[in-house]
Amino acid sequence: MGEIAAEYWKRRKGFILAAIGSAIGLGNIWRFSWLTYRNGGGAFLIPYFIALLIVGVPLLILEFLLGNYFAGSSPKVFRKIRDNLEIIGWIAILDVFIIGTYYAVVLAWVFDYIWLSIIYAPQLASGTLSASRLFGNLVTNPWLVLLGLAVTWFITWYTVFRGVSEGIEKASLVAIPLLWILSIILVIRGVTLPGADTGINWYLSPDFSKLTSGSVWIDAFGQILFTLSIMAAPLIVYASYMPKKSELPNSAWITAFANCGFSFFFGFATWGIIGYLMSLKNVTSPAALNIPLGGGGLAFITIPTAMSQLPGGPSVAAVFGLIFFLVLWLAGYTSLISIIEPVYAALRDKFGVTRRQTVTAVTIISFIIGLIFVFDPDMIDPVDFTVGSTNLVWIVMLEAAVAGFYLGVKKLREYANPYAELKLGAWFDYLIKYAAPISMAVILFYGLWYAKAQVVVYSIVQAGKTVMINAPGTVNGVHPVSLIVMVALLIAAILVTGFKWRTKIEETGIAEV
Ligand code: ALA
Repeated sequence: MGEIAAEYWKRRKGFILAAIGSAIGLGNIWRFSWLTYRNGGGAFLIPYFIALLIVGVPLLILEFLLGNYFAGSSPKVFRKIRDNLEIIGWIAILDVFIIGTYYAVVLAWVFDYIWLSIIYAPQLASGTLSASRLFGNLVTNPWLVLLGLAVTWFITWYTVFRGVSEGIEKASLVAIPLLWILSIILVIRGVTLPGADTGINWYLSPDFSKLTSGSVWIDAFGQILFTLSIMAAPLIVYASYMPKKSELPNSAWITAFANCGFSFFFGFATWGIIGYLMSLKNVTSPAALNIPLGGGGLAFITIPTAMSQLPGGPSVAAVFGLIFFLVLWLAGYTSLISIIEPVYAALRDKFGVTRRQTVTAVTIISFIIGLIFVFDPDMIDPVDFTVGSTNLVWIVMLEAAVAGFYLGVKKLREYANPYAELKLGAWFDYLIKYAAPISMAVILFYGLWYAKAQVVVYSIVQAGKTVMINAPGTVNGVHPVSLIVMVALLIAAILVTGFKWRTKIEETGIAEV
């Protein structure tokens, strides 16, 4: 037992790119620009930036430090902090595991869209087939989605199966630069389209009066958690693969700014294209387009509709459509990897199981559970409400409080500072102990008690709203499925916590702390 060799990133660059890959996901592409538009345009950048500095960067640094200091996955980290806290780690692991099951289904749609938009390019361009029809047909044809899901899982499985440096690191070294290159092409195309400036004006012109509304701030804080993958699981494990005595705080700053910079930058492509559509339709406001501007609707209907009418004819349209969906797929794929790896790492730490068999088993089980969403996509929203929104907020709140009060952030800070390019000061302790837990508590409290429960909490980590097909706030009352998932998750966490540790907890890590 305990003889599984520790794995490491080959280079710091690999670690940072993998962390950026985890962060940049579906959420950055269709969530950020929509939130900005909805919450006061350029003015939204103020709460967004404040959320980034007050909770985003500190929690990212915290997760890097926890993973590296304790050299392991979340259950191990929490157990090492205090025996009876192990369950928090398992809740986080099971939570991301469930996120993976439907996140992959959304990626399956993206994958199918890639080839369908090539096959149907002429029909899309001539208007004989609308993007919403194409997407409607796709979602209602589970066999096509099943195929996309199988391919998506196969590629993800293969990447994680190969291991940290051979799989995840190599994939990130290729996927992330490619993602940026393709995005630059889209942004250049987007901003040079006729009418682009009108769209970009809607995206950025500030409406400061919106900042007085609480929901704008909740949107900003929620967005920051999901977009940076602050979920007490993926980044803890990624950082555990850095050798001890590594630079960590500056890596977190780089990850955070690359991620948020990407969101902001990609907004120009999105809004340039929306502006173009406005000029084609001769309307002066995005709302007058009468098509979805947020959520999956933006990605699967609005953008493809606009793409199919790009100047240059069907083949040009097909190429840009392809680039857009490739960007979406790459972004989601590198996030999905970071969802599977911590599940494996947690099982490895506790049960001493090996990578290949475990990753294969986790992938197959995820695929099978995903069938629920393939055959009934309406299940995605209520499940996401629990695991992709509500749970993240309180899990992260506990994480910060536990680190702040039980472990002592000062200890972590002193651990990191000798090797840090940017030293952590006492400000870090205050943010982790007070600012982060308090802001999470306010979000939960405000969401659950004050406003109509579902609607506000719904918008919490709409950050993450990876899958919102419906307009936000259309759901009333908590869906029974959301509650069932919550209860099932907690029972599973209690059970798995109850199992005996098959490894000597010290031996799975790099070195004793
Ligand atoms: N951070 C990832 C996203 O934004 C999960 O989609």
